[in-house]
Amino acid sequence: MGEIVRVAVNGATGRMGRVLLDLLRRDRRFALVGALTAPDSPEMGAPVAHGSDLCFTHDWSRLGPVDVVIDFSGPEGFAAALAHCRETAAALVTGTTGLDAQLKAQLDQASARIACLHSANFSLGVAVLSRLLREAAAALPEWDLEIVEAHHGRKEDAPSGTALALGEVAASARSVLLTEQAVHAREGHTGPRRAGSIGFAVVRGGDVVGEHSALLLGLGERIELSHRATDRSIFARGAIEAAHWLAGKPPGCYALDAMLAERLPR
Ligand SMILES: NC(=O)c1ccc[n+]([C@@H]2O[C@H](COP(=O)([O-])OP(=O)(O)OC[C@H]3O[C@@H](n4cnc5c(N)ncnc54)[C@H](OP(=O)(O)O)[C@@H]3O)[C@@H](O)[C@H]2O)c1
Repeated sequence: MGEIVRVAVNGATGRMGRVLLDLLRRDRRFALVGALTAPDSPEMGAPVAHGSDLCFTHDWSRLGPVDVVIDFSGPEGFAAALAHCRETAAALVTGTTGLDAQLKAQLDQASARIACLHSANFSLGVAVLSRLLREAAAALPEWDLEIVEAHHGRKEDAPSGTALALGEVAASARSVLLTEQAVHAREGHTGPRRAGSIGFAVVRGGDVVGEHSALLLGLGERIELSHRATDRSIFARGAIEAAHWLAGKPPGCYALDAMLAERLPR
């Protein structure tokens, strides 16, 4: 899209929302026209930044024309953003996780009327890692494959959603099911490694933002594909690139990978 893109952020008072607002206010490709938050937010009515005319609101009906909504909120916030986009034909970029099957189905149905893009990880580096892994896993089907991830000690789930998504990519590249090939624990007398399995290893501690490595282990050689996040703003940066790419696109369900594919030489 060549013109200035009118963008609204949903979940604007949250951790991701704040980073998005900060980056968008300095990005000349965009006009920030809305900052939406929860109905009971204590920030309601306050300016989004010192001296700004734009205030936090929950009232979608008072929003002017918007080309794209970026949503990092929660399931309820997501539902409200989706309803607004359906009504106004604005595009929707959403990183909200924890959507149930019903909300996912609503997003799917809405893609007949609006352009939408959902990703559980908006890091462009992870998206590229995923592409490289798909190629390597398919080209070297006999090589052993292990996925190692590290996160800060407060993380409550393991392996990370991103590690599992990488496992899915590799499994699908080898035309196998991750549910049948994944090995999540090794302890005691494990016996030799099962050929074709995809192993996961998890490290927890300190303030690690997020690290993912895919190890392809051959005989006499190995490939290590690694991504290290040092700052949560990578997700906001990826979502902003996706929003700029998506604004003005015809209705459909788009993927981050399609945006990257357009950047590659043909
Ligand atoms: N895809 C990715 O790359 C990625 C990366 C990071 C995070 N995430 C996901 O993005 C979401 C937000 O993460 P976060 O860390 O920013 O969480 P957070 O700090 O809790 O922020 C969520 C924000 O949404 C607001 N909100 C709640 N209900 C709302 C509603 N009905 N309408 C509008 N806004 C509403 C909250 O307001 P109150 O505080 O007033 O309740 C809060 O400001 C989570 O689902 C998280 O898992 C995805």
